[in-house]
Amino acid sequence: MPGVFDRKRRRAIVRKISEDYEDALSTYFGTKSPDSVAAKDQHRGYVDALRSCGVEVEILDALEGHPDCCFVEDTAIVFEDAVVICNPGHASRAGEVNSIAERLSNDFKIQRMPPDAMMDGGDVIYTGSKILIGLSTRTNAMGAEFLSKFAAERNISTQIIEVPKTTLHLTTVCSVPRDGTIIAAEGHLRPDQLESFDEVIWVPAEEAYAANTIAFEDGRIIISDGFPITIERIRKAGFEPILIAMSEIMQADGSLTCLSLFIG
Ligand code: GLY
Repeated sequence: MPGVFDRKRRRAIVRKISEDYEDALSTYFGTKSPDSVAAKDQHRGYVDALRSCGVEVEILDALEGHPDCCFVEDTAIVFEDAVVICNPGHASRAGEVNSIAERLSNDFKIQRMPPDAMMDGGDVIYTGSKILIGLSTRTNAMGAEFLSKFAAERNISTQIIEVPKTTLHLTTVCSVPRDGTIIAAEGHLRPDQLESFDEVIWVPAEEAYAANTIAFEDGRIIISDGFPITIERIRKAGFEPILIAMSEIMQADGSLTCLSLFIG
């Protein structure tokens, strides 16, 4: 989940599932074409879960012709004073960013990336003390360099992590539920990449999808249901899991954080 507001989680933008969601990109978790009717139902459950945790949620209309448009996390990185609008790493998603820039232009200074820089917000995690940037098939070195410089100008440091070819984004295989703690998927990330964390909650490779979570300061944490080992490990680490259905979002390689952009 990108940006400094990922730790506050008071206000979020989400976007409805599009009518052509069956055509969303899917390379890693998909086993069948996603069911858009069931996905819409799960999306409503997701919004309900955020609201139950006190998040003020704004729901944007779907962008028809953009089957991945519900994955708003990828479109922008939100800082206190400015928003970096991403150059999406997959050509089919390029048309999603302008409407986000327009929506946020009243509240923030809008910063575009240089043309050759490429970044999906799903490769960016704010830990509370620094920003992790994944280098992946969607985020290139120029994108990472641009964001690092932009963060440094705001006295925020960054750490680059190579995202393995086995997965889409950095956020697909890890999340930071509190500063100093990371939940990470075995078989995707390595211990030496996570040495800067005091605590690593490892998720077994067969439950890798559950490494992506949304946690709140009071210890509540939203997790996809169906991953019992991970849920138990996270509970033992002192969190209070809130389980929601995500199967049809997972079919399009979408995780919990992909569905929201925190702006306050
Ligand atoms: N389906 C999400 C993505 O590939 O960007």
